Amino acid sequence: MKAILLAGGKGTRLRPLTIHTPKPIVPIFGRPFLHYQIDLLRQLPEVDEVILSLNYQPRRIEEIFGHGDGLGVKLSYVVEPAPLGTAGAVRYAGQALEETVVVFNGDVMTQVDLAAVVRLHRERNAKATIVLTPVDNPTAYGLVETDADSNVRRFLEKPKPEEITCNTINAGIYVLEPDTFDRIPKETAWSIERSYFPSLVERGETFVAYVYDGYWIDIGTPEKYAQVHRDIMARRFVAPPFASAPPDCRLVSPAARLEDGVTIEGPCFVDEGVYIKPGAHVAAYSVLGRQCIIEEDARVEGSIIWANGRIGRDALVRDSILGRHCHVGRNAVLGGGIVLGDKSVVTDYSRL
Ligand code: GDD
Ligand code: MG
Repeated sequence: MKAILLAGGKGTRLRPLTIHTPKPIVPIFGRPFLHYQIDLLRQLPEVDEVILSLNYQPRRIEEIFGHGDGLGVKLSYVVEPAPLGTAGAVRYAGQALEETVVVFNGDVMTQVDLAAVVRLHRERNAKATIVLTPVDNPTAYGLVETDADSNVRRFLEKPKPEEITCNTINAGIYVLEPDTFDRIPKETAWSIERSYFPSLVERGETFVAYVYDGYWIDIGTPEKYAQVHRDIMARRFVAPPFASAPPDCRLVSPAARLEDGVTIEGPCFVDEGVYIKPGAHVAAYSVLGRQCIIEEDARVEGSIIWANGRIGRDALVRDSILGRHCHVGRNAVLGGGIVLGDKSVVTDYSRL
């Protein structure tokens, strides 16, 4: 069985983080995001190849994953000449497929039991099976109505508040039969959510829902990107590198250098090569990427700082996300909700 990961979107809602780092490889504790999806897919031993469907900055992704050596599964890449939308991308990547295929949106993190989803698909002899998850506010997602037998009755992408009739949404994980792909026009942008799924409902084809109410998140906005870090650190979602963390969840690399008088609160993550100078304080829910330098008496609170950041003396960085190679000057204050792109420089004494 093959799996297709839809990883071609531009990640606009995660800008500026995604300007130089496409969303599928944004680091989660220094680990490119797609690793988490590949971990999940490896639950299914019958998946022998993962096809990454790419469009935006494909080279960056290929450089990181190569042919999948060491991942336990073969990887291949299909790069669209132009963005084909979620259905166009499935057709383009899956044109030679004849067997059942598993499709993932390349930005969802979950522990759903994939084997059970595939089992349901087979038991029901379905053309498509979709994982649903309950959320408080479906407006940012695809709303999916089902009947008592778990058949999908309606699919409405990004419903308006007055259109909300239930709380189950598309979790971005599907099992599909390729003999339905011929209705996706070739070489045209086509949406799986707005056109393909509604067409299955219209034609009365067997389209089944698997409702999962365990951990699920789409990492596609800065708030959700930060949230997934908090969830992993608090072990609401058990995943690397915190799957085997010490009880206080302070994960500090032995290859980090901490001077005397440094205080570090758990849960937190301090990667290799980090250098924290005297008097600096790293508060709970902070993530310091490789080679970050935290100068004397600086404070980092609940923030995610990608590799090679430098936080100046007496500066404060609170509840913010900083891309690679950012430099926060001395006594500067980032007071919360700040997102800086790679190589940003915050001048000494600035307040954001
Ligand atoms: N190859 C390719 N080509 N991939 C694409 C394209 C494209 O043209 N457009 C989007 N993608 C990929 C994105 O990279 C992402 O991994 C996935 O398709 C979904 O796109 P998003 O832009 O993240 O969509 P969304 O989050 O607004 O909504 C989707 O996900 C929700 C769950 O998180 C929809 O599928 C909703 O129905 C769903 O509820
Ligand atoms: Mg998304």
